[in-house]
Amino acid sequence: MLDKVNELIGEVNTFKATSKKEVEAFRIKYLGSKGLLKNLFAEFKNVDAELRKDFGQALNTLKKSAENKVNELNDAIDNTTEDKGSYGDLTRPGEPIEIGSRHPISLVKNKIIDIFNRIGFTVSEGPEIEDDWHNFTALNLPEYHPARDMQDTFFIEKNPDTLLRTHTSSVQVRYMENNQPPIRTISPGRVFRNEDISARSHCIFHQIEGLYIDTDVSFADLKQTLLYFTKEMFGKSKIRLRPSYFPFTEPSAEVDIYWGLETETDYRITKGTGWLEIMGCGMVDSNVLTNCNIDPAKYSGYAFGMGIERIAMLLYQIPDIRMFYENDKRFLEQFTSVI
Ligand code: DAH
Repeated sequence: MLDKVNELIGEVNTFKATSKKEVEAFRIKYLGSKGLLKNLFAEFKNVDAELRKDFGQALNTLKKSAENKVNELNDAIDNTTEDKGSYGDLTRPGEPIEIGSRHPISLVKNKIIDIFNRIGFTVSEGPEIEDDWHNFTALNLPEYHPARDMQDTFFIEKNPDTLLRTHTSSVQVRYMENNQPPIRTISPGRVFRNEDISARSHCIFHQIEGLYIDTDVSFADLKQTLLYFTKEMFGKSKIRLRPSYFPFTEPSAEVDIYWGLETETDYRITKGTGWLEIMGCGMVDSNVLTNCNIDPAKYSGYAFGMGIERIAMLLYQIPDIRMFYENDKRFLEQFTSVI
């Protein structure tokens, strides 16, 4: 008999339950009015006198253990339901998760990349902290060249050899140094100029550079590529090229697109002419090719560069360049696309 009681004590101590229903079944089994303890206590009178003391003690232990177990399990279950309760009303609608949107600079950049990807251009990048060679000298802008003044440069730690790149043309040089023709690449990136900040210009902005080098590349190829780009980007199919000067291209041109006067709400967009300048371009100067170890007798090519902010301002009618960098949610939320 005693063994049986001890065995039951063991069972009680190891019993586990996760619901109140199980605990109640356990309580009824051991402590209920027709339960095991009741029966065992009834056996008491049949136990030999000398064993009664031990038997009685064992029964008391069993009873206590069962009672403790019931309380312990009920408490544990109450606590976990209390936890569940802290989630509040489970039928309440969830908090909406805010989906971010792409920054307009990224939207325009991605669109430009996509347009050029379709005609075989791949994306390349270079460092924002540059050296004189990649930003100037290799691009046919030797020291003391007056055109250096056009680009108010930030130099680093008074070391004139280290600077923040003033244009993404530096990536052209890096790309040509590391790749042989045929080359078709576009290089988006951030550029820096020591300029006063105003509604129209900023000291940090973005450019995309394009570079195409192969055998027999002509100015006609450049024009056709630009026409394709303006059609895809703006839906406009009239462009003109005005002769211009860049040290790294010869001949050089500035590209205008015919925007028309329909959207000319103020005088600023095309200044009443209908024409709008969107980028600089030209045939890569043979000095630049030589500087980058590409043989100008064998290869020729074109390059172009444009400001992303300028294009984004046009497309989205953004009146002030500073809005791009303030990260005002009311501004950013207007660009719903996530592409
Ligand atoms: N690097 C020029 C700038 O910063 C833009 C540019 C003009 C890039 C003509 C070119 C180019 O590749 O051919 O204003």
